[in-house]
Amino acid sequence: MKGKAPMTVEQSLEPKVESFKSRALTREELSFQTASRPFPLVIESSGGETFTGLRDTVQAQRSRLEEILWEHGAIVFRGFPVSGYREYEDFIDALFPKQAITQYFMSEPGRTLIPGTRKLFDTDSRKKGLFKYYLGGAHSENFFSSDVPAYLCFWNKRVAPKGGETAVIDGQGLYTDLSPSLQKKLGEKEVLAATFPLSEVAARYGLRADEVKLHALARGLRVTEGPSGPVIQIFKPLIWEHPVTGRRSLQFNSNIFPEIDYYLRKIVASQYRGAAWFAHKLIWKALDLSSRSLRSGGESTHRPSLSRSEQEALAKLVWNHTTLVKWQLNDVLVIDNFQLLHMPMPWIGKRELRVMMAAPVQRLDEGSSGRFKRPSEGAGAETFGGFLEHISKAAQATP
Ligand SMILES: [Fe+2]
Repeated sequence: MKGKAPMTVEQSLEPKVESFKSRALTREELSFQTASRPFPLVIESSGGETFTGLRDTVQAQRSRLEEILWEHGAIVFRGFPVSGYREYEDFIDALFPKQAITQYFMSEPGRTLIPGTRKLFDTDSRKKGLFKYYLGGAHSENFFSSDVPAYLCFWNKRVAPKGGETAVIDGQGLYTDLSPSLQKKLGEKEVLAATFPLSEVAARYGLRADEVKLHALARGLRVTEGPSGPVIQIFKPLIWEHPVTGRRSLQFNSNIFPEIDYYLRKIVASQYRGAAWFAHKLIWKALDLSSRSLRSGGESTHRPSLSRSEQEALAKLVWNHTTLVKWQLNDVLVIDNFQLLHMPMPWIGKRELRVMMAAPVQRLDEGSSGRFKRPSEGAGAETFGGFLEHISKAAQATP
């Protein structure tokens, strides 16, 4: 592996987080494969604390915990009394005060707010069966949206009887191990991350088209003429520079490179053996057939054109930088979205995760350079949620 040798877990944990035990994940806590870098880090309960005690400790230690997150990419908080929605919201509020995202631009279907909460989302409330069969979909959170969280937080409400791990993928390791030509190709220009018809956005949020356009232009999004009227286009760089450590990472959503999913399924299939996974693998075959046209039609002005061998190499690199975290009940997994990507692995039975997002990122400049401001309080006003609040207050103030 190129680049600086990674720190050992012991080195990176100095000074220690007071009141908590911390360690690397053990072999039994992972499935299949571990990336070379020791992440995520596990922070455990020393035992016997109340939720209030835990929340106070997290609040007091939050700066050190954030530093550890920047170093390790992700933390699993394990064995703590975080056993309901209220505790989970309070826990994340203690870790990232006043930074939780309440609403983001064009959230995906099924990403609905949990009733009675303000910041807690279902990962997919549609609970349609196909999702659990799917293998693929590595992504940086909200890559398709204009509102991207610096931190992504999952809480496990129910552990799947089989499978259902969350794959965390080291985007920094990925970038470092890219060939120089691929590094150049991927870093050359922004990719088209998503296109939304202006009328669809307006209808969804009960806004006028000119209000939507105003927000889009203020956020640096492009508004252009599509086949059936004006559309908002969201462009993103693929290489991001971490705002604190300065380390570069490769970030994407696999809908930009559907070929990666195809090759990933080929790499991983042999590890899903036995009758239990049979139905899953049939779905993967169907997905592979349906994605054939996508794969063969790879030329696009809005994404780098990769050769077949480059696509295959990228999928291999993704897998070689993947750690599969086996869930335990009430685990909280916090991911630094500036440096890791993630992906749900297929499962059998029921599995429930709830998600919170914190600290919307703000870019320092436009173009292919992925440079960002350091996460801070108050950035929420810049999000689409902030804009909607502003519109609603303005409407209330108008007699
Ligand atoms: Fe996600």
